[in-house]
Amino acid sequence: MRGLYIQNVSKSFGSVRALDDVELLVEQGEFMVIMGPSGCGKTTLLLVTLGVLKPDKGSIWMGDREITNLPIEERNIGYVPQDFGLFPHLNVYENIAFGLRVKGIPRKETDERVKSLLQMVDLEGFEMRKPKELSGGQRQRVALARALAINPSLLLLDEPLSNIDEATKAEVITNLKSLQRKTGVTTVCVTHNPEDAFRLGDRIAIMYSGRIIQCGEPREILENPGNDVVKKLIAPIYVLLK
Ligand SMILES: Nc1ncnc2c1ncn2[C@@H]1O[C@H](COP(=O)(O)OP(=O)(O)OP(=O)(O)O)[C@@H](O)[C@H]1O
Ligand SMILES: [Mg+2]
Repeated sequence: MRGLYIQNVSKSFGSVRALDDVELLVEQGEFMVIMGPSGCGKTTLLLVTLGVLKPDKGSIWMGDREITNLPIEERNIGYVPQDFGLFPHLNVYENIAFGLRVKGIPRKETDERVKSLLQMVDLEGFEMRKPKELSGGQRQRVALARALAINPSLLLLDEPLSNIDEATKAEVITNLKSLQRKTGVTTVCVTHNPEDAFRLGDRIAIMYSGRIIQCGEPREILENPGNDVVKKLIAPIYVLLK
């Protein structure tokens, strides 16, 4: 079953064609990574899916439901922005509970949900801390817990590993993958980093200049890069495998 279908979506900002006839199918429960260089349109693609930006052309589907013109709050999408977007004046508990409050979920149910999310991201006891009192990796986990709080049908992650140092990255990747498996939430994660893409993705879509130029399992792409641009973008992986 399909989780997300982006059907021939284009989006321009003035003369810049940020998305150029993008087509992408993400299966239900799949961890899809979109990998491409800075400025190729990754964040734009997430914002169009989230509903913050309206596509100029094309349509967006979740399952069998078209969401192209649906208001953001009716899409049930969890989103972790490029800078995590935590509310600095709210503590960890309040950050995670935010979406539940907006939805009017009762206090007791919110308490229980936040408690189980904190357990899931291994941050029990951190409820009262403010974001500035957390490490980068801890902040990232709070942002994830906040995005997952509403039980989203789709999770969008924008460069979730960019603020994580190399030493803790392996652990964060393991946590992220197991959290995604546990919740079974269809996930689209964007990154410019080929190594992260190949460690995270069930499948990888290579994006370049507003277009998806190849999509497949990591192995498929390595063994059969579609063209010279793909070859160049994944060159760091070949070096690692040598
Ligand atoms: N609001 C905007 N107004 C004008 N141009 C924009 C706007 N948002 C993005 N762009 C342009 O659209 C293109 C794609 O931008 P986008 O932010 O999607 O890239 P990205 O792949 O996320 O890059 P990065 O890896 O640096 O985050 C870029 O050329 C960018 O300058
Ligand atoms: Mg971006």
